Amino acid sequence: MPPHTRPTWKTVWITGASTGIGHEIALQLASIGVQVAVSARSVEKQQNLGPNIFPFPLDVTNVAAAQETVQLIEDQLGPIDLAIFAAGTYTEVEATKIDPQLFATIMTTNYLGVVNCLAAVLPKMLARKQGHIAWIASVTGYRGLPKAAAYGPSKAALISLAESLKPELDQHGIPISIINPGFVATPMTAKNVFPMPFLMQPQDAARRTLNGLAKGKFEITYPTRLVAILKFARLLPYGLYFWLIKKLILR
Ligand SMILES: NC(=O)c1ccc[n+]([C@@H]2O[C@H](COP(=O)([O-])OP(=O)(O)OC[C@H]3O[C@@H](n4cnc5c(N)ncnc54)[C@H](OP(=O)(O)O)[C@@H]3O)[C@@H](O)[C@H]2O)c1
Repeated sequence: MPPHTRPTWKTVWITGASTGIGHEIALQLASIGVQVAVSARSVEKQQNLGPNIFPFPLDVTNVAAAQETVQLIEDQLGPIDLAIFAAGTYTEVEATKIDPQLFATIMTTNYLGVVNCLAAVLPKMLARKQGHIAWIASVTGYRGLPKAAAYGPSKAALISLAESLKPELDQHGIPISIINPGFVATPMTAKNVFPMPFLMQPQDAARRTLNGLAKGKFEITYPTRLVAILKFARLLPYGLYFWLIKKLILR
């Protein structure tokens, strides 16, 4: 089902759009006539994505390249009305094997990658007093979870970033949205060997994301049942929380 979009979305920029959730968001927007600028590192996966989709290859960890990419998109397609930052990476971490390089890579891609793209597009939106910026964190950012010692903090940082910026940017007319998915079947989760409760398809994730953005929601979450469980878990005292985690996840 096509998403409900605001008529003002003429041009949307999506990072991490070569596969997974970002890719599906791009396809759904393009299908209803929105111009979509897509960015990821792999050039070949961004070719021939169909009408209304325009590749602008980018490594989000490169500050200068992010600035250049935004300028190129606006020169070629016009002002960006909505930016969705979906680029991200995940590697499972054993608590007994801490590799600082891996932690740096994940934080640089997932967190600073968003900061770099935000820094590139925000001044243009502020000057126009128009635009909407969203990024994908994760329910993993709600509270520390086993195996997510590198990924979880990067997503918690993204949630905090959105909460920190929203009040001031609201005053400038630039809404911020944070997207917190549970498990979605994409190349990122295909390598998981553990059971993924309430696993969703990327088409459904993209549709819910776009519906939430069209409604101007601050936080967009799915699937409902997993989100409810994890939001409740946020309220638990440490003793009970760790007891449950050991019982349910580490077993
Ligand atoms: N799938 C889930 O269950 C799930 C749950 C919660 C949150 N999320 C988040 O949702 C977002 C999308 O994930 P996904 O599941 O759709 O994963 P995915 O299919 O692996 O997509 C990740 C995308 O990020 C791009 N990317 C990675 N590093 C990049 C970099 N340095 N510069 C530019 N692009 C980069 C990848 O393209 P290239 O490799 O070509 O650069 C790809 O397009 C991520 O932020 C992820 O953390 C996913």
